[in-house]
Amino acid sequence: MFLETHIPPNEPASISYLLGCAGQGKAIAVDVHADEVDYWCQLADQKGVRIEYVVDTHVHADHRSGGPALAQQTGAHYVLHESSQCRHPHETVQDGDRLKAGNVQVQVLHTPGHTADSICLLVSDLSRVDEPWFVLTGHTLFVGSVGRPDLPGQAERMAVHLYRSLHEKLMSLPDYVEILPGARAGSVCGAGLSGKPVSTLGFERRFNPALQLDQAGFVRQVLENLPPEPEGMAEIVQYNRGE
Ligand SMILES: [Fe+2]
Repeated sequence: MFLETHIPPNEPASISYLLGCAGQGKAIAVDVHADEVDYWCQLADQKGVRIEYVVDTHVHADHRSGGPALAQQTGAHYVLHESSQCRHPHETVQDGDRLKAGNVQVQVLHTPGHTADSICLLVSDLSRVDEPWFVLTGHTLFVGSVGRPDLPGQAERMAVHLYRSLHEKLMSLPDYVEILPGARAGSVCGAGLSGKPVSTLGFERRFNPALQLDQAGFVRQVLENLPPEPEGMAEIVQYNRGE
């Protein structure tokens, strides 16, 4: 298995990923920005891998997605959760679905809260063991923080969804599972993110302030600490939905 991370040049708070199986020459790209399409195409060529799937963990509100363009250029499937309101040609996944790239297996976890269509990707290297090794948490769980629940509207209801997604889907995973979020400090998709891009579920379970609260306290805390809305959000969402 290989795993590559990249910081988009114009969005230093974001993180995108390419993971896959070098032996079988297959890869999956996750949360690619519009200005990174050429970068990931070139890297895939250098590594001799074909990008089979391009996944967005949700329809983003803070940056233009390069997902549709990368999928078109590489012949990959563009993948979103089935609840996404996106008109770009795409394949839908639901909770429990699995994507494979050679020995790398990605299990989809539907984790609504930051948006209704948010997913996390639970990754196993089947050449080693079936157990999950890490989870790409998109904008659901960050290092030191959680995703903001207000951007789609109905903030309180979405905050309850987020609490349940975190506790029922992510917190049931073993402590050793690493979390690799789609953003770090400086992102407007959450408040109080660490600048460190990687953590473990065990560390976050113990020390992430938002995960120490009961549901009522969680909802209150996230709604009281909302960052400013992303600049140009309406236009960005429209672009990402292909409207
Ligand atoms: Fe987001």
